[in-house]
Amino acid sequence: MTQISWRLAEPADVSAINALTARSIRALHRDSYSDAIIDEAVLHAYGVDWQLVRDGTYFVAEIDGALAGAGGWSYRKTIAGAHGPEDPEADPLDPAADPARIRAFYVDPEFGRRGVGALLLRLSEDAAREAGFGRAELTSTLQAVPFYAASGYRPVRRFDLPLPSGSELQLELMEKDLDAPRQPER
Ligand SMILES: CC(C)(COP(=O)(O)OP(=O)(O)OC[C@H]1O[C@@H](n2cnc3c(N)ncnc32)[C@H](O)[C@@H]1OP(=O)(O)O)[C@@H](O)C(=O)NCCC(=O)NCCS
Repeated sequence: MTQISWRLAEPADVSAINALTARSIRALHRDSYSDAIIDEAVLHAYGVDWQLVRDGTYFVAEIDGALAGAGGWSYRKTIAGAHGPEDPEADPLDPAADPARIRAFYVDPEFGRRGVGALLLRLSEDAAREAGFGRAELTSTLQAVPFYAASGYRPVRRFDLPLPSGSELQLELMEKDLDAPRQPER
């Protein structure tokens, strides 16, 4: 069994995570999106949201000391996207009424299908539950829908994220009750 270690992401991790994000998207989205959409998504839609790092809600996973993946959650209203270190903080969600956001999951293609994503998702859900959230919501790329479905997320609706060129990135809104039975440990 692969030994995966994890810790909270730190500002010093951001450039390595951004590089991993681009690798992950380019390798894993080929079947779902055109090359042009992938190029644009890498430029405009993906990358680390500094807010998550500052909030202590973003995790990294390592295998044999190498960065294998990153992912996290948020108690803030931001739905998706990269946000810089100087961007203002988004307003917080209300755990009694709103779902927590599951955010920015990327696994290095070299370490795919070894349980890295599932571990990061479990950590994020546990932290959101501990913060009082009863539900979690996320916007999934088409490639990642089976991954989230395997952890109990239900598709809610498909929508298009407009990109600067005028083309669109198809995404799926998904949700899960956090008091549903926990997924088994690997
Ligand atoms: C989606 C992603 C994070 C999954 O990470 P991962 O570490 O490879 O996933 P895991 O190994 O933890 O998979 C757990 C389970 O999810 C399901 N799953 C994961 N990837 C799948 C795929 N491509 N097709 C079908 N099922 C899949 C399987 O049930 C898997 O269990 P199994 O391997 O025992 O069959 C990764 O593929 C990725 O980084 N994708 C590109 C970036 C992206 O789109 N991120 C989502 C942004 S919203």
